[in-house]
Amino acid sequence: MSENTKPKKVILDVDTGSDDAVAIMTALQSDELDVVAICCVWGNLSVEDTTENTCRLVRAMGKDTPVYMGAPTAIAKYLERDTKQELQPIIKDGKEVRIHYKRLEGLEEPTDKKAEDMDAVSFYIDYLKHAKEKVTIITVAPMTNLGLALSAVPSIAENIEELIIMGGTDRLGNVSECAEANIWHDPEAAQIALNAGVPTLFVSLDATHSAALTLEDAETLRNLGTFAGGFTAKIIEQRAEFDSAMAGKKLTSTPVHDSLAVCAVIDPSVITESKKCNVRVALSGIADGRTIIDRRCVPSEPNCVFAFRASHDKYMEMLVKYLSK
Ligand code: RIB
Ligand code: CA
Repeated sequence: MSENTKPKKVILDVDTGSDDAVAIMTALQSDELDVVAICCVWGNLSVEDTTENTCRLVRAMGKDTPVYMGAPTAIAKYLERDTKQELQPIIKDGKEVRIHYKRLEGLEEPTDKKAEDMDAVSFYIDYLKHAKEKVTIITVAPMTNLGLALSAVPSIAENIEELIIMGGTDRLGNVSECAEANIWHDPEAAQIALNAGVPTLFVSLDATHSAALTLEDAETLRNLGTFAGGFTAKIIEQRAEFDSAMAGKKLTSTPVHDSLAVCAVIDPSVITESKKCNVRVALSGIADGRTIIDRRCVPSEPNCVFAFRASHDKYMEMLVKYLSK
């Protein structure tokens, strides 16, 4: 690849997790990205489970990308509050229905791929302190790892090219009436990352819901005849089943959040509506974890770009391209 099309160095931060798996497969199979490491964190599951699921998936993809196990809980959230957001299963026809199972279907067996000895927070500090070129960080999970690393050594921000956050919300909510899970799980970490002054893009719930994937899309991906295509088809169907159980009616589409953030790094045109704005994270009360956009007539200085909408068709076109390998 010529200099201007050299693969972009990226670090993924995941809580694998069903949609995290699609993000990992998309990133690992794109020629435009060079995934230098995958950091794992608590969130959808325990950090032990998210790390094990990530290792098994990396091996199933035939890769040996280094995987680092990170933080087991939020920086501050659970020091004072007694709410622990354990994703509760839905019981449907006497069966437990979950959006994130302890093990990803098809990756039930352990492999020889294990996490590195170094923990994820130490990895961030070591890698970013000594990086010869800047790296893009894509967080699709609670931001605890990066928040801890930035708190310990703020200067590592100088080597972060861009921070892409799957997270935040303008009009929607999922784990609460008005907050999105990744930010809600560790609001302080998200604010620490925002304060670091790194060019930041929020790929929000509004954006991921505007490009929800359908059961027809699942069939299209299954018909690719690849491991990644079939794996993603099952994830779409499983997520739509969970959403239908939650809604008490049959839903034929479901937002697949994390891989949209990866696609936004590969080709920003997948995001169709975004705005430079000032965002702060609520750190307490009913709005705990909400991303608050400053819409005053004289707003504070912008500190990020917030994506509100994405193109379903462009998103699917990219998934077909990267999952057909
Ligand atoms: O709110 C969606 C986010 O929370 C996604 O990253 C999903 O994997 C969960 O972590
Ligand atoms: Ca995730």
